[in-house]
Amino acid sequence: MSFVQEIQLKSLGDERGQLVVLEGNQAVPFDIKRVYYIYGVDPQIPRGFHAHKATQQVAICIKGSCKMLMDDGNQKTTVLMNSPTQGVLIDVMQWHEMHDFSEDCILMVLASEHYDESDYIRDYDNFLKAVSI
Ligand code: TYD
Repeated sequence: MSFVQEIQLKSLGDERGQLVVLEGNQAVPFDIKRVYYIYGVDPQIPRGFHAHKATQQVAICIKGSCKMLMDDGNQKTTVLMNSPTQGVLIDVMQWHEMHDFSEDCILMVLASEHYDESDYIRDYDNFLKAVSI
């Protein structure tokens, strides 16, 4: 079984369309301190390539599609993200790489902490060392 935790978001749909609610400590399992989104990515160019020491995140592809390679140091899994009701939890110490962005992709990320470069591990060997301790 994969270590990746997907979160099925409820969509409140009616004849006018769909509405998804993202509340901290509800479907999103932490207080949300920061939201950012990635768009206009060249399909040939991957992003990410890091893990976080303390920040938890939930990624949602709200438009288009992309793939997220998740790696906990023991297992690697690639998740296709192609639904605005599909959340993927990027937990602490999970190396992640996003690739195969569709031209219309908008990848929104909710984070449990404010931006702090010192929370990033951007070197894969350092990540493997940190998770094996
Ligand atoms: P980076 O984390 O490298 O993006 P990705 O993981 O998608 O490849 O971030 C790109 C730049 O944006 C980098 O200079 C840091 C900056 N940044 C912020 O200032 N605040 C943020 O919340 C994020 C996520 C990035």
